[in-house]
Amino acid sequence: MSSENSQTIQPIIEIQNATKEYTTGQNTFKALKGVSLKIKKGEFVSIMGPSGSGKSTLLHLLGALDIPTSGEIYLSGRQISKMNADDLAEARNKKIGFVFQAFNLSPTLNVYKNVELPLIISEVDENKREKIVREKIAVVGLSGKENNKSSQLSGGEKQRVAIARALANNPEVVLADEPTGNLDSKTGTDIMDFLSSLWREHQLTIILVTHEPVVASYSQRIIHIRDGKIEKETLQKARIPISDKGTKGDKGTGETRRIDIKIKEVRK
Ligand SMILES: Nc1ncnc2c1ncn2[C@@H]1O[C@H](COP(=O)(O)OP(=O)(O)O)[C@@H](O)[C@H]1O
Ligand SMILES: [Mg+2]
Repeated sequence: MSSENSQTIQPIIEIQNATKEYTTGQNTFKALKGVSLKIKKGEFVSIMGPSGSGKSTLLHLLGALDIPTSGEIYLSGRQISKMNADDLAEARNKKIGFVFQAFNLSPTLNVYKNVELPLIISEVDENKREKIVREKIAVVGLSGKENNKSSQLSGGEKQRVAIARALANNPEVVLADEPTGNLDSKTGTDIMDFLSSLWREHQLTIILVTHEPVVASYSQRIIHIRDGKIEKETLQKARIPISDKGTKGDKGTGETRRIDIKIKEVRK
């Protein structure tokens, strides 16, 4: 690749020859059959593949939400199989934010409480929490909706709350499993514009699973998986939002276009 440092910079996540087997009753199913992958800090990566090919399984391993049957996973160079449970929970809570297709908001909690939850889990002092919660809600353009329950939000707003929640602990990595899968295409584009803007403005690393080419077009690198193996990887210039106003709330038409400039120039 173009970066002269690509050999020397430690990957933020590395998977070495990981397999994952699920056993149900008598049957063992090999969901991943030896996957090796390095994710560099600041990358925006998509994982694509047919239904059942192992995308979610791989994303869960990348986020240390699950452990491989064999193989190794390193978070910032630390081998997770050698970390104790507390260290692993802390790494998972503080380094990684997760966004799900079905939003996974708590229906009984309002926007404020949903975003506050990960801060409570990671034991952030009560007097520091309010500032962080209000800042994250503002980042996703939902100031004023703090008291709404999830039933009082649109699909796109729910996903914005989920993103604010994922950002609460200032993670280095955001993992998203089909984040636009439950949204209509216009709202999906808005959410992708928004995620892309976040990625450009903050030193985020994003890994997302999708089967929609338009969603993958926002990333720099696409990992294609099939039958539990990486079939191929492609590199591309990341699509950028037509106006980089994604973090300011509602944003016009949600139209995007490809702009032929190098990622390095965009991201400096
Ligand atoms: N907890 C589980 N127990 C048994 N089988 C599972 C489990 N999770 C996933 N699988 C199986 O592993 C395969 C890969 O699943 P998944 O990673 O969710 O695929 P994808 O996200 O690409 O659709 C599927 O065939 C699925 O049925
Ligand atoms: Mg899946």
